[in-house]
Amino acid sequence: MSNLKDAVVLVTGGTRGIGRACAARFAELGARVAICGRSQEAADKAAAELGPNVKGYACDIASAASVDALVDRVTEDLGTIQVLVNNAGITRDGLLMRMKDDQWNEVIQTNLNGAFYACRAAAKSMLKARYGRIINISSVVGLRGQAGQTNYAAAKAGMIGFTKAYAQEVASRNITVNVVAPGYIATDMTAELGEKATAAITEQIPMKRVGTPEDIAFAVAFLAAPEAGYITGTTLSVDGGIGM
Ligand code: NAI
Repeated sequence: MSNLKDAVVLVTGGTRGIGRACAARFAELGARVAICGRSQEAADKAAAELGPNVKGYACDIASAASVDALVDRVTEDLGTIQVLVNNAGITRDGLLMRMKDDQWNEVIQTNLNGAFYACRAAAKSMLKARYGRIINISSVVGLRGQAGQTNYAAAKAGMIGFTKAYAQEVASRNITVNVVAPGYIATDMTAELGEKATAAITEQIPMKRVGTPEDIAFAVAFLAAPEAGYITGTTLSVDGGIGM
């Protein structure tokens, strides 16, 4: 894993939570890391806190044009992207019966289409370099479903199919594409659930604790390593056993 020194890494949505922990881990391993958030201010603030190996960019991952511009800028500033972590994601929960088109579309557009845009934008230079590591952050919800999250489950399950198809397209070019499927991880996203719901979920987790962003970052850095070059199209669950 030490071979990530000077690797150019792009983590989408790295301003907080899991993405931020991934950026911190990559920076610790000596990589040159780009993170993005919806505002330049948030991205700059997080990058400053993460240290000199991390640079912040503004990007709306739900916009193809914005993602294309992001990849161009990162490539210009840091060099060809070798590791892409598709982490940016949102939830807009609600029962299907009452789900608005906007709620559905925003989640698909950000969580699934955003990963497609980033892969497509980074593909050309990765293919040219005949090297790449792509890690898509899905969820246990994409594997098991979850009431109130049909939009999110569809996007996260979609990422898994997308990963398997794209992994087959680029395997011969030494590019791996894998999924990390986190369980319940303590971040701002899950803080919305409140204490009572979190306690009920924790009870169901075989490890009897919610995960940390660092638990996910460790798995992401593993799949991002040059040594992980024979692992592709797979889904690595990091969930304390709740997905079993
Ligand atoms: P978070 O809400 O703390 O952070 C999400 C990040 O994505 C933020 O940096 C935000 O700025 C960024 N983002 C959201 N929409 C964006 C957009 N349109 N353009 C650019 N950036 C955007 O979430 P958390 O918990 O860190 O989740 C990260 C990923 O992990 C998400 O894809 C989430 O679905 C997934 N995940 C999280 C789990 C959890 O328990 N926290 C469990 C399973 C998966």
